[in-house]
Amino acid sequence: MSIRKLKKNRRTFIKAFFSLLLVKSLHTRLVSADEENNYLINGPLAGSIYYTKNKPGKWKNLVESHTPLLEIYKNTLKVSTLHEMKGFEHYIIKHIVLDNKFNIISEKIFDPSKDIPISKHNIMGYNDKLYILSICNQHDTWLDIIKI
Ligand SMILES: [Fe+2]
Repeated sequence: MSIRKLKKNRRTFIKAFFSLLLVKSLHTRLVSADEENNYLINGPLAGSIYYTKNKPGKWKNLVESHTPLLEIYKNTLKVSTLHEMKGFEHYIIKHIVLDNKFNIISEKIFDPSKDIPISKHNIMGYNDKLYILSICNQHDTWLDIIKI
């Protein structure tokens, strides 16, 4: 085998090796992100410290009225909670949006005397996923995650 052919094979091997490393690294990141989401939505904290649609814990009959509904349109995330606003007796206190590192991007505090529990958040420049919390004054904090 000529030296030229050996060099070409070496380059091909190096390219293939690094491509494989890149694919493996991306796959590991994706799997870890899915595992992290799964842990947050279905793990032991869900249903005890906070609630999710999959793990509503003691609030199993309140999933629909407390899980935040999420819609993205361009750079805006709309969060809605299908919950009554019965003055200060029973209402949604706030919506909170966090980035993939759990930094607060935006929050909306509701006035139950005049607001409905719908909020809009500018998410321009954020990627990967967002964590959304909706907090009820009687039925605690509900989490959902959206991939963007
Ligand atoms: Fe509630």
